[in-house]
Amino acid sequence: MPTKNDVLAVLEFSRNRFVSGQELAETLNISRTAVWKAVKSLEEDGHRILAVTNKGYRLDSDSDLLTEEGVRANLPNQYKNLPITVLSVTDSTNTQAKKLAADAAPHGTILLAEEQTAGRGRYGKSFFSPRGAGLYMSVILKLHSGIAEPQMITVAAALAVCRAIEKLTDLKPLIKWVNDIYLDGKKVCGILTEAVTDFESGGIESIIVGVGVDCTTKEETLPPELHGIVGALGEGAVCRNRLAAEIAAGILDSFNDLGGSEIIDGYRARSLMHGKEISFMRNGEIFRAKVTGISDSGALLVCLDNGTEFELQSGEVTIGSMAGN
Ligand code: BTN
Repeated sequence: MPTKNDVLAVLEFSRNRFVSGQELAETLNISRTAVWKAVKSLEEDGHRILAVTNKGYRLDSDSDLLTEEGVRANLPNQYKNLPITVLSVTDSTNTQAKKLAADAAPHGTILLAEEQTAGRGRYGKSFFSPRGAGLYMSVILKLHSGIAEPQMITVAAALAVCRAIEKLTDLKPLIKWVNDIYLDGKKVCGILTEAVTDFESGGIESIIVGVGVDCTTKEETLPPELHGIVGALGEGAVCRNRLAAEIAAGILDSFNDLGGSEIIDGYRARSLMHGKEISFMRNGEIFRAKVTGISDSGALLVCLDNGTEFELQSGEVTIGSMAGN
């Protein structure tokens, strides 16, 4: 029903103020009765709408359903017309985004889901994605031939997530190399960056940036192996539509200037790695090292126990000497 979506778009755009029935009717060129019916229908879908006499309608601050209208209303003008799809449930937004990219979905296509049944993390791990408790989003980036720093997309995505959280909350997220986001010592976001190759040329034609944020996930609902490891932004901490829009816009903005110092400087400022003792595996052997910095291309600079300087381009590192996350 287009009218319903139009009313939702106005309410999402005006989240902090009441919009009168008259204003809605005039803006959308529909009757007051049609406005009222649309509001009822939105409520039936699960949106929480405050209706106050002489003031009008407003989305309740805890009304947090992910919607195309909600994400679009929060995107800056240059991204307002991007294709956005919100699925109620899917296996993995990255898996679906890869299919869309192979079917010529345009640069900046955004795919979200309220729930993932087979959410994927890095190194073949699964990503726990319970309904309504997180942000599960994939953004399709089309690689134009001249892009020199595709590895910086991962760095830029981590920075975009931090900046979005900082803008919308008072929280101070930190980045564990390469792109896990931490709050109070617990992981609250993981990023899975995947390439789609062109069948004919074998070259990378698209990058899928998959972002999974634990927004309201509760410790008791986590699988036992994630207890004490995975955290959340907190109940009511963010509106997920706004968070999705901020992250997507941040990723798309940075795509135009991946080699600039602004991204790597912003990343370094939020890195929790500096000076940390870490361990990592190479060719079946465990190495221990101390982190000395992050290179301009996003590599982790370490000093091995035997004093050798080393650059880690990719891979998983463990803070301390324990194996695992
Ligand atoms: C990690 O922590 O190792 C990365 C997790 C990435 C999860 C996101 S959720 C949206 C997108 N779809 C997926 O299946 N994975 C990514």
